[in-house]
Amino acid sequence: MLKSILIMFLLVLGPFALSAHSGEEHQKNKMESAPSPEGLKKVNEHYLKQVKPIFKKKCFSCHGSGVDLPWYAVIPGPKQLMEWDIKKAKKHLDFSRDFPFVSHATPKKDLQAILKMVREGSMPPLRFLLMHWDGALTLEEDQVIQAWAKKSLLQLQQTP
Ligand code: HEC
Repeated sequence: MLKSILIMFLLVLGPFALSAHSGEEHQKNKMESAPSPEGLKKVNEHYLKQVKPIFKKKCFSCHGSGVDLPWYAVIPGPKQLMEWDIKKAKKHLDFSRDFPFVSHATPKKDLQAILKMVREGSMPPLRFLLMHWDGALTLEEDQVIQAWAKKSLLQLQQTP
């Protein structure tokens, strides 16, 4: 009897203990990697000049204000797919207010994710490119984004 009460207790309180712990870890990580406002400003200046024009053309339809939707976005089917993409894309990363982006991660993590996606060629998603044949990044755009992300990561590391 006593044993089962104990087990019940653990079952009820276990998740609380776990979540309290992970919350703490989360905050600690955030504090350690918080870049300075000056560092972020520098990254944004470079972003506005070189990268934003590319993002506007190739990424904003999902990660931005969503105003510049492609023609097929009004057709039922593509429309639903597009709306679903936008909702999901913006939840991950929202470019509409410049750098640092609105996101669930840190500025550094965002830069790393952008670098990874562009390196892998997995953004914009393939299903988007199937309908939007000029939506892919050109080699030059690809290089501009990668150079910016790499330089910015270094910059944010140097300014504690
Ligand atoms: C057709 C809509 C669409 C376009 C256009 C698009 N994305 Fe995405 N993006 C998504 C979706 C949806 C996700 C969420 C992950 C998934 O389900 O693939 C995502 C996720 C991401 C992530 C991962 C964020 C994270 O938290 O891990 C990055 C980085 C990203 N996109 C960058 C870009 C860049 C850079 C461009 C332009 C070159 C771009 N995307 C264009 C739809 C889009």
